[in-house]
Amino acid sequence: MAGRLRDKVAIVTGAGQGIGEAIARAFAAEGARVVVAERNEATGPAVAGSVGGLFVRTDVTVQADVERVAARTLESFGRIDILVNNAGANVFFRPHEMPREEWRRCLALDLESAWAMAEAVLPAMRARRAGAIINIASTHAFRIIPHTFPYPVAKHGLLGLTRALGIEYAAEGIRVNAIAPGYIETQIARDYWAGFPDPEAERARACALHPPGRIGRPEEVAMTAVFLASDEAPFINAETIVIDGGRSALYHD
Ligand SMILES: NC(=O)c1ccc[n+]([C@@H]2O[C@H](COP(=O)([O-])OP(=O)(O)OC[C@H]3O[C@@H](n4cnc5c(N)ncnc54)[C@H](O)[C@@H]3O)[C@@H](O)[C@H]2O)c1
Repeated sequence: MAGRLRDKVAIVTGAGQGIGEAIARAFAAEGARVVVAERNEATGPAVAGSVGGLFVRTDVTVQADVERVAARTLESFGRIDILVNNAGANVFFRPHEMPREEWRRCLALDLESAWAMAEAVLPAMRARRAGAIINIASTHAFRIIPHTFPYPVAKHGLLGLTRALGIEYAAEGIRVNAIAPGYIETQIARDYWAGFPDPEAERARACALHPPGRIGRPEEVAMTAVFLASDEAPFINAETIVIDGGRSALYHD
């Protein structure tokens, strides 16, 4: 089925690689015009070019960049239907060993930028009384893995933001939802495994943690983003969809 996002205009942050790239490709395949809001000036234009979209160099932690990408989208396409807050990064420490600057960096990128981007697109969405905002959270938004501080603090906050904005703007036709992926095979994961003496054994260990015996793929997150962004989910709001193959439902005895 193609054309599920026909005529819609979508901004996807951090779409230069990984999950964001998969979302940009899936959106374009469904007929959306995609704005790649990415800070990487090599990957961003490459993805935008290959999906016939627009690249706007954006560091989502810089307010002027956030305002510019919203303005450029409106100049180019006249509307903003969809925002995907995907840009993010792992910031993992034991709490007492974390430099305070890392707390600020994590909260700025993994939480505050989502509000800044939402704030920038809300006027256009409110004016048309329509819009879908999708925040890419994580299973770290519900569960704690030791030594990953403060990433889960930011991701828990992202669910709070999702619910707060979803409630606030529901009557104006704007839906705000989150996707909580589990372990997804992206460059981050491959780089992480590469740090072990036996990267393939570490990959196998990750797969074994999941009931289906494998980890997820970026395209599987993108399929859910298409659904939430489309007119197929008109009454889903302030909700989070977990994509982890059932891992977080598994009881370890
Ligand atoms: N990979 C996983 O297993 C996994 C699991 C759960 C949640 N997530 C979340 O999914 C999202 C994407 O993760 P990924 O694995 O695809 O990561 P990735 O590192 O492969 O891609 C992140 C992209 O965001 C861009 N980016 C980083 N900081 C930016 C900034 N300040 N402004 C604009 N762009 C910026 C990077 O350049 C990169 O293109 C993140 O929010 C991450 O927390 C990932």
